[in-house]
Amino acid sequence: MPEVEDAKPVPNAGAPAAEAKPAAVPKVDATKYVGTPAVGTSKAAAAGGVAASGPTNTDVDRRRRRLVWAAVTAFLTAWFIAFFRFFLPRTLFEPNTVFKIGYPSEFALGVDTKFQQKYRIWVDRTPDRLFVIYARCTHLGCTPDWKPSENKFKCPCHGSGYDSEGINFEGPAPRPMDRAKIELAPDGQIIVDTSRLYSWPKGQPSHFNDPGAFLTGV
Ligand code: FES
Repeated sequence: MPEVEDAKPVPNAGAPAAEAKPAAVPKVDATKYVGTPAVGTSKAAAAGGVAASGPTNTDVDRRRRRLVWAAVTAFLTAWFIAFFRFFLPRTLFEPNTVFKIGYPSEFALGVDTKFQQKYRIWVDRTPDRLFVIYARCTHLGCTPDWKPSENKFKCPCHGSGYDSEGINFEGPAPRPMDRAKIELAPDGQIIVDTSRLYSWPKGQPSHFNDPGAFLTGV
């Protein structure tokens, strides 16, 4: 007969397994995780663990970051504009001082004001010549008005009066208005140059009869 090994008692065999204890849950103090209470939030609410309704620290940080970025962006934009402006030409665009005004036959006897706005001149034809008056009062530089009914120019600033040829006769203007250089182009049109003026200074000889101050026989 084979030896039968005695069954050895197994320690704790048959004993009920020890009850598993639930893992200890740390107590959480909710007030630690609530952001800084908003201004005006009652202490009682914060102390009682009620979530504050004001902005959290994260919100405040985000707003600060946005502000900083906005300031940096504005600064860089201004800097770039100034940088590129530096390379742009700073040219003063002034009206052309040499220009054509058409053919002599287009101007009748008397004063023609159609170029006053564009070139600040009047074209003046008398029985023996054609000339161009520069429309600037010789007192302080205002632009006089042509008064056809009175056959004179009247300065609106201080009342100087000039006859139909621009010769002063009343008010503070010290001398007649200047005349611009005038000549005929090869195509027959009149060329005016307002950078070359002929004047009649007070008490001195007139330059109104100088070559270039008028056209004749046109
Ligand atoms: S500017 Fe013409 S009268 Fe003074």
